[in-house]
Amino acid sequence: MRILAIETSCDETALAIVDARGGIKAPSFAVRANLVASQIKEHAPFGGVVPMIAKREHQKSLPLLLAKLRRSHPRLLASADLLAVTVGPGLEPALWTGIEFAKKLGKELRVPVFGANHLRGHLASFLLGPHPSLKNIFPAISLIVSGGHTILMVLQSLTKERKLGETRDDAAGEAFDKIGRFLGLPYPGGPHLEKLAKKGNKNAIAFPRPMLHHKNFDFSFSGLKTAVVYYMHQHPRAPKADVAASFQEAVLEVLVRKTFRAAEAYRARSVIIAGGVAANTALRSAMRKEAQARKLHFLAPKPEYNTDNAAMIAAGAYLDSRRGITRKLVARGSMGIA
Ligand code: KG4
Ligand code: ZN
Repeated sequence: MRILAIETSCDETALAIVDARGGIKAPSFAVRANLVASQIKEHAPFGGVVPMIAKREHQKSLPLLLAKLRRSHPRLLASADLLAVTVGPGLEPALWTGIEFAKKLGKELRVPVFGANHLRGHLASFLLGPHPSLKNIFPAISLIVSGGHTILMVLQSLTKERKLGETRDDAAGEAFDKIGRFLGLPYPGGPHLEKLAKKGNKNAIAFPRPMLHHKNFDFSFSGLKTAVVYYMHQHPRAPKADVAASFQEAVLEVLVRKTFRAAEAYRARSVIIAGGVAANTALRSAMRKEAQARKLHFLAPKPEYNTDNAAMIAAGAYLDSRRGITRKLVARGSMGIA
């Protein structure tokens, strides 16, 4: 099945063509084209994503990306079997832009349009790259860490999964972005903060590890954010690199410890990370190290599939459509993962 996918839930406009085969039991994917137009420059002056600017930029970028795809892959485009478009969660004006575009394109190409769930795209993203045989990875614990979500899941198979916990307030990426802004870094803060943290001492400041000792799999990052702001008011001359490194270390420790506590509780054979924050090299190496020590598989998609993209939307849509899931072509900003 050849899937053309469209993603416009936040500040990246993305189009991809992915060939999928194997069904729900043994899915495998070949990414044939993966285009992303980032709007970071447009939102940066405002320090965050402005929904109406996002909508305008998606409206501009979608036809440009499609034209590019028509030029580079005319045959692939003409032979698509399914058009997948993100219907939620995300910013509704942004989602609607993708949905309306997909409906028109679906008619033109004469292919059915599938309403895809952005979070299930992140969840499926590990399947886009090399990974161990699916026979050997379940049960698996999956951590989705992005700008909008922090969710811990247990997967017994590709069709049997359960949410174990999630953030009660800010998402991990949101905390990176807010602290980044507070430290005077450009938007989005995550990657810039990671860079600054490399120059600092992660043990310089003992920031709180929120909810680390709670016996559940939920997270909370807003208290940590307040602790950093408070610390900076008390110590205005503290080296920013030390603040960044110590903040990052606090977030990472909570993410790693909770993920592996879940791995232990569910006797997992692998740990998967996905979402924009999973592009963080310190998080990836901390997770990999812990997985190796426990003899678990560690699965993380290539960084380009961690941050928002349409290839993952195709993968999630393939699995969902094979399970018989259907969704209305209506934007649902706060759609959950199930
Ligand atoms: O998955 P994503 O592209 O969009 C959402 O679905 O939210 O995630 C974006 C988030 C932003 O908060 C961004 O700052 C964060 O991922 N991020 C990072 C890094 N790269 C992106 N956070 C920490 N370290 C990074 N290297
Ligand atoms: Zn995302």
